[in-house]
Amino acid sequence: MSISPITTKEFECFQHLIYDHAGISLSAEKKVMVASRLAKRLDHHGLSRYGDYFQIVLSQEYPDEFQMMVDILTTNETYFFREPQHFEFFHDEILRHWRDDDNFRVWSAASSSGEEAYSLAMVMAESLGMRSWEVFGSDVSVRVLNSARAGVYSMDRLQNMDNRYLEKYCLKGVRAQQGFFRVDAKIRSHVEFEQVNLKAPLPPHLGKFNVIFLRNVLIYFDQETKQHVVESLLRTLKSGGYFFVSHSESLHLVTDKLQMVKPSIYRKP
Ligand SMILES: C[S@@+](CC[C@H](N)C(=O)[O-])C[C@H]1O[C@@H](n2cnc3c(N)ncnc32)[C@H](O)[C@@H]1O
Repeated sequence: MSISPITTKEFECFQHLIYDHAGISLSAEKKVMVASRLAKRLDHHGLSRYGDYFQIVLSQEYPDEFQMMVDILTTNETYFFREPQHFEFFHDEILRHWRDDDNFRVWSAASSSGEEAYSLAMVMAESLGMRSWEVFGSDVSVRVLNSARAGVYSMDRLQNMDNRYLEKYCLKGVRAQQGFFRVDAKIRSHVEFEQVNLKAPLPPHLGKFNVIFLRNVLIYFDQETKQHVVESLLRTLKSGGYFFVSHSESLHLVTDKLQMVKPSIYRKP
């Protein structure tokens, strides 16, 4: 069945829905992108109009469709050791000076498919070894969390990963798995993934973290949502803890509760 072009009104329905749910602001220029990403779901349901698909997303009859729409409309690009200076700082300035015996906890708060969380875990395994530590990864998309839990990646995802980590903490696939690698169980056992929508009230069981990575997600939020999300995450950051955003993001005018250590790296007094 051929699909009619998305109308402005239909686009606005999805725009409001994803904003209300996840805080993601889609500008009018994203209309074509939204239409092309959702087209496969219209195909799947044999629909020709985006408005009819919108009704399905809201309908009780298709309880999984709402989440599928969220999965499709989020942008999940990520890779191992993205922005390597952050991992150097994490190792040299934070972990190397860590003397306490407490469980060291890090949150990858928009983890996508897990590359950031596993990169952190590999650095922690090197520095903290047998001491107690864990990484918590979360995202609003269920699809990426499923890949994150599996921990299987194509070899072309490696770009920035040091060979040392690959040899020590990853298992290269053979035969049918050729071209893929799996993060080793000794790393995976320290990493847990759970769905958390940063716009919604945070689950009470999260506890407190020593370090939070909130990278490459604030760019999708408007000022009000940025402030709300950062305030909410800061309640889970220990005093003296570190907060990372991407180099292309800033917390200027977002919060005054953090001190900048260097651009994109902050500390809670
Ligand atoms: C571009 S990825 C960033 C991944 C990783 N942090 C990095 O820097 O490579 C952005 C992620 O933010 C997630 N996201 C968007 N809105 C969210 C929300 N309200 N709550 C939780 N995650 C959200 C998306 O699903 C996506 O996986």
